[in-house]
Parts: sequence; C-alpha cells; structure tokens
Amino acid sequence: MTPPADATEPVDASVTELVDADDEAASPVAERPVRVRGRLTPRVRGSRPVSAKRRRRSSALVLSLALLATGVLWSVFAPTGNAADPTESEAVRNGQALYLQGCSTCHGLNASGTQSGPSLIGVGSAAVDFQVSTGRMPLAGAAAQAKRKDPSYSQTQIDQIAAYIQTLGGGLEKPTITQKELADADMAFGGELYRSNCAQCHQVAGQGAPLTYGKYAPALTNATPEQILEAMRVGPESMPVFGQGQLDDNSAKAIAAYIVASRDATSPGGDKLGAYGPVPEGLLAILVGIGGLLGVCLWIGARQKV
Ligand code: HEC
Ligand code: HEC
Repeated sequence: MTPPADATEPVDASVTELVDADDEAASPVAERPVRVRGRLTPRVRGSRPVSAKRRRRSSALVLSLALLATGVLWSVFAPTGNAADPTESEAVRNGQALYLQGCSTCHGLNASGTQSGPSLIGVGSAAVDFQVSTGRMPLAGAAAQAKRKDPSYSQTQIDQIAAYIQTLGGGLEKPTITQKELADADMAFGGELYRSNCAQCHQVAGQGAPLTYGKYAPALTNATPEQILEAMRVGPESMPVFGQGQLDDNSAKAIAAYIVASRDATSPGGDKLGAYGPVPEGLLAILVGIGGLLGVCLWIGARQKV
C-alpha cells in the first residue's frame, strides 16, 4: 500500500524543498510574467517620459560601469612582460648587438648553431645567464669542459644577451632567489637533498671531484645562489637536469641555501683538512696521535736507562 499524496502529510523537509523548487522551475512562464507585470506596470504607465529618460541614464551608467570594470580587469590581468615596452626592446636590441659581436662566430648569426657551437634557440635566459655569468662563455678554447672563469660581461650586458636569446623560441627563464628566501630556507632539508642528489659528484662538502673523460664536477665554492638554481634547472654538460618534478622551487632554494651556508660555516673543531671527510682526519689522528704517543714512550724509555 502507498501512502496518500497529501500536502499536509509530514514529509521530509528536503523533499518539500525539492518539490517547491521543481514547481517553480517547471512553470517559469506561467508565473513570472504575472509577477513582473503586477509590479512594473503601474510605475511604467504612470510616468512614461521620466522612465525613458531614466532608462537612458541608467544604460549610460551601466555602460560606464562596464567600461570601468573592463579597465580594472585589463590592468589586473594584462601581461606584464609587454613586448612593446621600450626599455625591454632596447635591452633586446643591445643584447643582439652583443651577441653578434661575441657569440655569433660559434653559435651562428641567428643563433641556430654552427660546427663550433650548438644552437641557442629555446635554451632560454637561465642557460645564458649560467654560461656567461660563470665565465664559461664565450668559450676560451677547446677543452673537455668549459671552465669557470671571471665573466667577460657585466650583469647588465648578460641580462641583455639573455633577453635577446629568450626572444628566440623562449625557454627556461632565469630563476630568482631573494636574501629573505635564502635566510628562511629549511637548511636541514636542503642538506638532506644535497647529500642524496648532488654529493655523489660534488662531494659532501661541495669541494668537487673528477669525472670520466677529463670532465669534472667543479667545486661549489664560487657559485652564487642564482647560479646554483640555474645549474640544477639547466643541467650544464654532464650534470643531469633537476626539473620541477624532481626538486620543486622550495627544495631547489633549500639546496642553494644549504650550499651557501655550509661553505661559509666556520669550523670550530679546527682545520677542515680540505673537508675531505673521515679519511684524512683519521690519517692525521694516526700520524699525530699515535706518532705522538710513540714519541712519548720512546722519551720515557730513554730517560729510564740513564
Ligand atoms: C669559441 C666558440 C664559442 C663562443 C665564442 C661562444 N660559445 Fe657558447 N658554446 C660553445 C660550445 C662548443 C658549447 C657547447 C659545449 C659546452 O657547453 O661547453 C656552448 C654552449 C653554450 C650554451 C649552453 C647551451 C645549452 O644547450 O645549454 C650557451 C647558453 C652558450 N653557449 C651561450 C653563449 C653566449 C651567450 C656566448 C657569447 C657571449 C657564447 N656562448 C660564445 C662555443 C662558443
Ligand atoms: C653526475 C654528476 C653531477 C651531479 C649529480 C650534480 N652535478 Fe652539478 N655539475 C656537474 C658538472 C660536470 C658540472 C660542470 C658543468 C660545466 O662546466 O658545464 C656541474 C656544475 C655545477 C655548478 C656550477 C658551479 C660553478 O662554479 O660554476 C653548480 C652550482 C652545480 N653543479 C650544482 C649542483 C647541485 C646543486 C646538484 C644537486 C641538485 C648537482 N650539481 C648535481 C656534475 C654534477
């Protein structure tokens, strides 16, 4: 037996709501015009010219509000790196001039590469900043690996060359890190990540080590925090690329902070012995410690004879 469909039947509240909403949705045409006419007709009919003027005024108001909103939205969402920015296009022009002068012999007049250097299209400003600010580029001569040396360009010029290369097919942009981010980074986490990702090549204390075929992982004593981030993202030469998927920005910054802090750390225990770890420390302990004890024994023995 089904219960009687009585309106007064105490039904579940949500069911009543559902039914109400359904009713309204089902008969919008039947109900709304009546309601609208009932409310609006007397006003409209009583003062037709005023209402027309008012309507014109209100549409002008709506139009100006819409224009204002468009303006606000544009200023919020407009792309900041505007290509029409005169200072930026000047930087690109200067960068192109510097490029043609210093880099095009190896990388080609339009950066698409020659026999003496790879294409730079799509390498991005991160790679250019890394290579030129560490002095690796312009390449000095044939070697297994470009060496770090004093940069040949000022940072402004490097930024200009990087801006020019960035316009050729984009690529990874130069990463940034602030002093505050360096100071706030989780150093212990950075150290852990460093030991698991970087120490096998750069060694525990970042002193570097030789690799195969005349290549080497350089010491990390001179790299700036920006260069450390760039190296991870770009993966120069035989260094692997550490992308966002492996090390997100926070992790990368923690590693940079750890490297910078650990190389500046003083050594309260005495000389670091080149930070080569337990082997030279043990050797020193054996030579000086046991050698010293032997010396004392010999000295005591020599005195007893007399
Ligand atoms: C004498 C030739 C030579 C000159 C001059 C030179 N490069 Fe290079 N460049 C190379 C070679 C060879 C490589 C690849 C081997 C390497 O990285 O050591 C390279 C690699 C690079 C890379 C890395 C490309 C990548 O795929 O990550 C960048 C960026 C770069 N050069 C930029 C420049 C810029 C900018 C200049 C000018 C300031 C310059 N180079 C001048 C020969 C040159
Ligand atoms: C497989 C070995 C290897 C691993 C792992 C490695 N690197 Fe490197 N790294 C290199 C090599 C090789 C170079 C030199 C590249 C060149 O000269 O173009 C280098 C260069 C660098 C430089 C530039 C140093 C300078 O003074 O210019 C930095 C900074 C750096 N690595 C940081 C790191 C960090 C941080 C990690 C861990 C996330 C890491 N590397 C992992 C091999 C490695």
